[in-house]
Amino acid sequence: MKSWLPILLLLGCCASAGPPEHRSGYHLLGGELRALQDDDFANPGMLWVDRGERLWNAPGGPREQSCRDCHDEPANLRGLTNRLPRFDAEADRLHNLDTLVRDCRQQRQQAEVLPHESEDLLALTTLIAHQSRGLPLEVTVEGPARAAFEQGRASFERRRGQLDLSCADCHQRLEGARLRGETISAGMVNGFPLYRLTWEGLGSRQRMIRWCNEAVRAEPMDPDSRRALALELYLAWRSRGLPLESPAVRR
Ligand code: HEC
Ligand code: HEC
Repeated sequence: MKSWLPILLLLGCCASAGPPEHRSGYHLLGGELRALQDDDFANPGMLWVDRGERLWNAPGGPREQSCRDCHDEPANLRGLTNRLPRFDAEADRLHNLDTLVRDCRQQRQQAEVLPHESEDLLALTTLIAHQSRGLPLEVTVEGPARAAFEQGRASFERRRGQLDLSCADCHQRLEGARLRGETISAGMVNGFPLYRLTWEGLGSRQRMIRWCNEAVRAEPMDPDSRRALALELYLAWRSRGLPLESPAVRR
């Protein structure tokens, strides 16, 4: 893990810079990486979409049913991912794309549940997210979702870890600052699941949260926990209006 100590110095110098909000991480990519994201034949994330299509059609569970048997075309789920996480009032919890797919697979298809960040889960979630490419992020934060939203906001602003930095310290106050070859973005989530060169692979929003937590040496969060989902809701709200890019490419 790289040392993030220089950031403390940066914070000292420009903490009041203020947020030029709402810029997709796409705008920080060089021309080559933008071209990679834009070209469906070259974009490495499209491999997961292809794999997701094969899984979509694969029978599973005791009745040998595929996703297609019940949902027909993946395109039927256009307009879902850009509205997630969403509050399920009946279950009194937030759902994100991972929990919806894992639950459906377990409860309706009755097949073995897919582990978080497994290649199969990422293939299905990337296939589904890709259907909403171009649609603006719009999550509901009113009504029953309000408490979770406030919890997420507080979590974003709370300092954490051995470095005592909050998400807001980096992604709001230091947006645009250069840190050891990386440019800190506004921390938008409109690209996920996305391909990161650093990971040499694909990851979900929750993987990104875990990565940033590790960077400041904070305790990891269980990706299914209320606080992790609440933080994701807040991130999606901050990204509102941005078009979904999945599978995006990032450094
Ligand atoms: C036995 C039928 C059945 C199978 C098989 C099935 N689903 Fe579902 N799924 C449903 C039903 C019914 C719902 C709830 C109604 C709805 O939202 O369409 C649902 C809901 C969902 C949702 C939430 C949709 C929304 O708009 O809220 C997702 C995502 C999903 N399923 C993904 C999958 C995936 C991926 C597979 C294959 C791994 C799968 N499902 C297999 C029947 C099924
Ligand atoms: C020490 C600074 C730092 C802190 C603190 C930090 N991050 Fe990050 N974060 C980064 C860097 C560096 C990247 C990779 C470059 C980029 O996309 O900003 C990143 C990337 C991201 C991205 C992906 C942006 C994109 O365009 O794909 C999200 C989302 C994110 N962080 C969320 C968070 C959250 C939530 C927290 C708090 C739990 C947090 N970050 C805390 C430095 C930080």
